[in-house]
Amino acid sequence: MNITSATFLKSVIRIEECPRDGRPEIAFVGRSNVGKSSLLNALLNRKGLAKTSTTPGKTQMINFFDVNRRFYFVDLPGYGYAKVPKGVKSEWSRVMTAYLRHREPLKLVVQLLDARHTPSDKDHEMLELLRRARVPVLLAATKIDKLSRNERTRNLKAIRADLDLDDDAVIIPFSAVTAEGVKPLWEIIAPCLKSPT
Ligand code: GTP
Ligand code: MG
Repeated sequence: MNITSATFLKSVIRIEECPRDGRPEIAFVGRSNVGKSSLLNALLNRKGLAKTSTTPGKTQMINFFDVNRRFYFVDLPGYGYAKVPKGVKSEWSRVMTAYLRHREPLKLVVQLLDARHTPSDKDHEMLELLRRARVPVLLAATKIDKLSRNERTRNLKAIRADLDLDDDAVIIPFSAVTAEGVKPLWEIIAPCLKSPT
């Protein structure tokens, strides 16, 4: 994908504030600190566009990025982050769930999993929610640069087994550090932006 422009559009806290121009959008979900904002930046080849941090809980609200004035990337808060007050957390979770279930322009959700760990209960719940909502999901195993060749094979296999994935389901190994996975992700994302609603 040739990225001619990529800019932050806005952060919203209510569904009604989402763009209404009908452009397709791709959202990124996963637990706090898994690397959602970093992956988004790597895909757009724009360091620092989406704010990243070593501390979990960096991304708050629903963040829209305008890409090529043609579609949106949507950076979401991570789940499983305990430091946010309970009321705020349940409100985020309510809004995010509504967004993922009912947002018409949403063409694909990229769900990120940390390649080093077995998926958590929250990861399972998210995948289940997306399957029920019939939103196409693409899985990416992040921070793959932190694993040796052997660990990589072993962990990817363990993640597949844990999520009970079909043989034809894909998990894209990804690293924001080496940019491994950028091309394969685009190969799946690009056609989704073209598909009719
Ligand atoms: P929240 O917004 O808090 O939900 O986190 P996030 O999922 O957006 O994670 P973010 O992109 O902010 O990255 C969290 C930390 O992991 C940062 O310190 C990143 O530099 C680091 N990180 C992200 N992706 C990778 C990766 O592929 N490899 C390595 N080694 N570090 C990564
Ligand atoms: Mg983030």
